[in-house]
Amino acid sequence: MRRKEGNLLRKLKVGIKEKKSDYEIIIGENIIKKLKDYIEQVYKGKKVFLLSDQNVMSLYGEKITEILTDAHYDYTTFIIPPGEGSKNFDFLLKGYDLLLKEGFGRNNLLLALGGGVVGDLAGFLAATFMRGIAFVQIPTSLLAQVDSSIGGKTAVNHPLGKNLIGAFYQPELVLIDTYFLKTLDRRELVNGLAEIIKYGFIADRGLLTYLEENREAILNYDTEALGDIIYTSCKIKAKVVEEDEKEKGKRAILNFGHTIGHALEAVTDYEKYHHGEAVAVGMAAAAEISRKLSLISKEDRDYLEKMIGDYGLPVTFQYGENSTEVYERLFYDKKAKDGQLRWVLLKEPGEAYIEEELSKDIIMEVLEGLR
Ligand SMILES: NC(=O)c1ccc[n+]([C@@H]2O[C@H](COP(=O)([O-])OP(=O)(O)OC[C@H]3O[C@@H](n4cnc5c(N)ncnc54)[C@H](O)[C@@H]3O)[C@@H](O)[C@H]2O)c1
Repeated sequence: MRRKEGNLLRKLKVGIKEKKSDYEIIIGENIIKKLKDYIEQVYKGKKVFLLSDQNVMSLYGEKITEILTDAHYDYTTFIIPPGEGSKNFDFLLKGYDLLLKEGFGRNNLLLALGGGVVGDLAGFLAATFMRGIAFVQIPTSLLAQVDSSIGGKTAVNHPLGKNLIGAFYQPELVLIDTYFLKTLDRRELVNGLAEIIKYGFIADRGLLTYLEENREAILNYDTEALGDIIYTSCKIKAKVVEEDEKEKGKRAILNFGHTIGHALEAVTDYEKYHHGEAVAVGMAAAAEISRKLSLISKEDRDYLEKMIGDYGLPVTFQYGENSTEVYERLFYDKKAKDGQLRWVLLKEPGEAYIEEELSKDIIMEVLEGLR
């Protein structure tokens, strides 16, 4: 199943129907060296605004600024502290201030170099500054490479909840360089792998087989194997987003494992679980609900649990959470429509669908089983 060609440069197109426009996702190893060429495909100006975080800049700042200097870009850097705490109004305002102070206008370009926090904040800054300036995503965490940089959801957190203030705003280009992944710590790598496992279960049995057969290479940061699964994941997400940019229907399928996952993150104050870990527990719960409804077999459910466990992710509550509290938190989800949750369940490993009618009893039984 492994490719023989070495590290390919791969390209995908995301076509947003409503906008009659599309943009490219470029995936490869060390493509950052050609940043100038890629920027020139979408931007003819010289003034660029680089938003990143302190971790990423301490690792790659010198390299990136050297590339920008050699290409004669007039760049301004805006570096935020790492972590979710920076995805807020304070840093958004600081971003607008700096853009204005440095004379940026609507025709300039913003570069987002970092994980999902940087990408979401930069995207919302780009969406709103001067009613929208162009931006390029250069995701550096695995989660950002397979999920947050694609699809155009941008946001900051509000004191009352995560990602509540945002916009759908698509980048001009997404540059995914597997070279960045080598410095990601193991927990962050696995965090991104949870989303990749999700793509396999909702849409691609072949991806699941690949994940089984190449687990060692993947967990050893083999960039070729990572490139393969990133490409497949982006292809799946791009296809879903193309059909339903604003999540009016099918895009909700990407929330497999997220309904319970989000509730779990919330009841533990976003401090205990990494997003991918909470989603992993949520996927195990969704698989168990699917089994209870006789949609999938016990073997299929075990297959999902084994896949998750083999990648070092949890399938049960890790911190003695209270099932009733988790149940109640489900309904705070901003994706609930008029208080009605949309569950993503499995028809088989590799195919999911959306279910709106689920009894409280079945959900509670499954939550109890996770303790
Ligand atoms: N927009 C969307 O569609 C979408 C989808 C999923 C998640 N998100 C958002 O994404 C965020 C989570 O993203 P994340 O997991 O990337 O978190 P993150 O941006 O906080 O990055 C995780 C950690 O990894 C570090 N890091 C990033 N790249 C690195 C590298 N190459 N080497 C070493 N360290 C590196 C960061 O500094 C940070 O400490 C959340 O805010 C979530 O809401 C958005």
